[in-house]
Parts: sequence; C-alpha cells; structure tokens
Amino acid sequence: PGGELQEYFDAIVAADQKIEPRDWMPEAYRKTLIRQIAQHAHSEIIGMQPEGNWISRAPTLKRKAILLAKVQDEAGHGLYLYAAAETLGISREELVEMLIEGRQKYSSIFNYPTLTWADIGAIGWLVDGAAIVNQVPLCRCSYGPYARAMIRICKEESFHQRQGYEILHTLSHGTPAQREMAQDAVNRWWYPSLAMFGPPDGDSTHSERSMAWKIKRFTNDELRQRFVDMCVQQAGVLGLELPDPGLRWNDERGAHDYTQPDYDELMRVIKGEGPCNRQRMAHRRRAYEDGAWVREAAQKHAEKKAARKHA
Ligand code: 3HC
Repeated sequence: PGGELQEYFDAIVAADQKIEPRDWMPEAYRKTLIRQIAQHAHSEIIGMQPEGNWISRAPTLKRKAILLAKVQDEAGHGLYLYAAAETLGISREELVEMLIEGRQKYSSIFNYPTLTWADIGAIGWLVDGAAIVNQVPLCRCSYGPYARAMIRICKEESFHQRQGYEILHTLSHGTPAQREMAQDAVNRWWYPSLAMFGPPDGDSTHSERSMAWKIKRFTNDELRQRFVDMCVQQAGVLGLELPDPGLRWNDERGAHDYTQPDYDELMRVIKGEGPCNRQRMAHRRRAYEDGAWVREAAQKHAEKKAARKHA
C-alpha cells in the first residue's frame, strides 16, 4: 500500500539517508532522476568533443598529455553516470538512443566552439569550476548511486579545474598576444558558464520538487551566485577581467551583484539552436554508427560464450 511505503521513503529522505535501487520510490522521483542523471552523463560524453578538439594541437607534449587524461576522465564520468542511471531500470542503449534522437538533453555549455587553445583553459577554470559548484552538493543527493558517483567525479573535476586555471595563468602572464587570447576566451565563456546552472529559480520547472526530494540541495540561482563569488577572487589572481561592468561587491547581501546571462539564448541553445548543436549531434551519431560493429561483435561473443557454457 502506497501509504506505508511513501512514509518510509519520506522518512529516509528526511533523515538525510540514501534511497537505494531496491527501495520503493515514487515514480516521479525515479523519472526525474533518470532525466537528470542521463542528461549529466550525456553532457560528459558530448563535452569530450570541444575539449578533444585541441588534443592534436596542444602547444606542448605536457599540455597534450594533461588534456588527453582530462578527456579520458570525462568519458569515465559518463560511464559512471550511465551506470548510476541503469540502477533506475533503464538501459544504456535506451539512454544513448534518446540522446541521438534528441529526446534527452545534454548541458548547453558544450554547444559553444573552442576557437583557441586558451578556450581549454577557460573551460577548465570556468566550466569545470561551475561543474564542481554544482556537483559538490550532489554528493549529498538522496539517491545513493548518484551521490556515490559524484564523490569520485568531484575529485577528478578538481584536477580539471586546476589545469585550466594553470593554462590561463601561464597565458595571462605571457606575451601580450597570449594575454589577449586568455582574456578573449574568458569573455566568450563567462556568460554561457553562468547559464549552465539553469534558468532563474522563477522559471525552474523541477527545482521545487527536486529540493523536496533532496536531489537538488541548492537552487540554480544560489549556486550561480556561489560560482560568481568564487570566480571574482580567482580572476584577480589570474590578472584577467570578468566581462561584466555590473560586477560589484554588495555589502548588504554579502555577495557580488552581477549581470545575468541571456536566458533567451540559454533556451535557444537548449532547443538545439546554439552555435555547435548540429555539429555535436552529428559527431555523436557518427561515433554511434561507427561503433555498431563493436557492439554486434560483443553481443555475438557473449551469446557464443553463453551457448558453450550450457552445451
Ligand atoms: N543545459 C541543458 N538543459 C538545461 C540546463 C542546461 N544548462 N539547465 C536546465 N536545463 C533544462 C532542464 O533539464 C529542464 O529541462 P526539462 O524541462 O525538459 O525537464 C529545464 O531546463 C528546466 O530547468 P530546471 O532548473 O527545472 O532543471 P533541473 O532541476 O534539472 O536543474 C540542472 C538543471 C541544475 C542542470 C540540474 O539538472 C543538474 O544539476 N544536473 C546535473 C549537473 C549536470 O548535468 N551538469 C552538466 C554540466 S557539464 C559537466 O558536468 C561536465 C564537466 O566535465 C564539465
């Protein structure tokens, strides 16, 4: 009977305990977790494209090795998260098909192009920085498998953010042309990184319930504010400007006032009209088709092995 099971579920969430795959859960809780964890996994995999774009053109062998490690990490993050989503009773094949058919989303941020090497620094500092601000609270999410995946991912994201910060620090303390390149990348990635946190709280369709279920522990605007406050200090050390003339410390609020990103642009990018959406999806589709023979061979091999075992 729903009553007792719902009460038990509510008591676990209220006590900051974890809901595990075999526990009863409201269908809507399962659905929103599948949506969010799948979207998170898709973001990690698609995110490999803009970052991977510079592996073959990194300025030194050391930078190439670090970027290679980072992109491999993103693939691993995607796999942890697909595995977490599968505990909710959906298969990876279905999730990948939904991405390919546009029935599931990935983060808006990866629909922007990486035009210069400095973009790899800006992605590390800003995008991975925003991901950490968003993902640390998710380590305390009420769904066990998601929370545990986040703990490992957050550790690796810190390395990603550090290497991006170091790239920008090197460039901003380099030649005037390198400094200019770093500033240009920060100018282009700042507002899309703010938009990554989602629409303003007033337009957030899922926040209220996600907060009640302790999936989301802070609202989109609270995390966005935390990110801005963190970046202002770090930009000072980098010697780079954040492209927001409205940015200033507000003593009453104990936080920085800042100019909001363009949420109409966020909605357009989410709908598929960003600078690189078509390219990202075409690349993902091609990789999926190119990999079909591997999936078929693995399937055949597994069937043969099973048949031999029962022979
Ligand atoms: N990109 C794409 N879609 C977005 C979005 C974004 N940046 N922000 C919000 N949306 C979508 C939501 O999915 C929702 O779609 P729906 O109405 O079709 O269900 C709609 O916009 C309304 O937004 P809500 O605020 O109501 O949605 P959420 O409660 O899900 O909050 C979120 C959005 C904060 C992104 C939340 O889903 C979340 O925390 N997700 C996990 C974090 C994540 O996905 N991060 C990806 C970043 S990239 C990354 O981590 C890779 C790293 O290596 C850099």
